[in-house]
Amino acid sequence: MSEDSPVIAIDGPSGSGKGVITHKLAAHLGFHILDSGALYRLIGLAAKKHAISFDDEAALAEQARVLTVRFEPTGDAEEPLRILLEGVDVTLELRTDEAGVDASRVAPLPGVRDGIGELQRSFKQPPGLVADGRDMGTVVFTDATVKIYLTASAQARAERRYNQLKDKDIGVNLHDLFQSIQARDERDMNRKVAPLKPAEDAHVIDSTEIDIDEVFRQVLTIVKEKLGSKP
Ligand code: DC
Repeated sequence: MSEDSPVIAIDGPSGSGKGVITHKLAAHLGFHILDSGALYRLIGLAAKKHAISFDDEAALAEQARVLTVRFEPTGDAEEPLRILLEGVDVTLELRTDEAGVDASRVAPLPGVRDGIGELQRSFKQPPGLVADGRDMGTVVFTDATVKIYLTASAQARAERRYNQLKDKDIGVNLHDLFQSIQARDERDMNRKVAPLKPAEDAHVIDSTEIDIDEVFRQVLTIVKEKLGSKP
């Protein structure tokens, strides 16, 4: 029955607004959410917790396969999901820049990506799924009903991330963040396995000059057309 559930794939680089759009869209449609970036962040965190070296691909792949994670709705629009790793709430820890950097080190490993393939696809459940990531439309859900690729300049993305982290009292420096985003883009776009790029059939939206409400309006128009209903 999950075969019939629509999937909306939202891909794009760090800070492009994917997370916000994913949560708004899922709330609007009553769909489930897959935050695939959180899964890579969780693997990095679990590796550190279990003293697994980032050079040990076999052990990281095994960690990916046995990842024990729970996503619990919080009812809070700002932070809609509580994420538990092996029963421990790691929601805030996952959002740090360090967790993002660690994630981008484990994410290029094919064994790690294969290890969470099944887990990712298991999120496809009725009434539908909004899947946020880098390869949702190109690898994990190639038959997604709608594919969106969100992008924005690295400067605009660094500023947005800075404001988000500041609001959560996570201390960061804008210049460091900009450099970190550029380095992460470089790794995500140039890796051999599942590089970040728009699917051929993706709708590309550049949000550098438009605000998040306008991005959401454009996404909703596309989704509405594809789902053939009134989302
Ligand atoms: O979206 P994010 O910042 O939480 O992602 C963290 C890292 O995980 C990012 O550097 C790239 C990687 N990632 C990936 O390779 N594939 C995905 N589908 C999602 C994230």
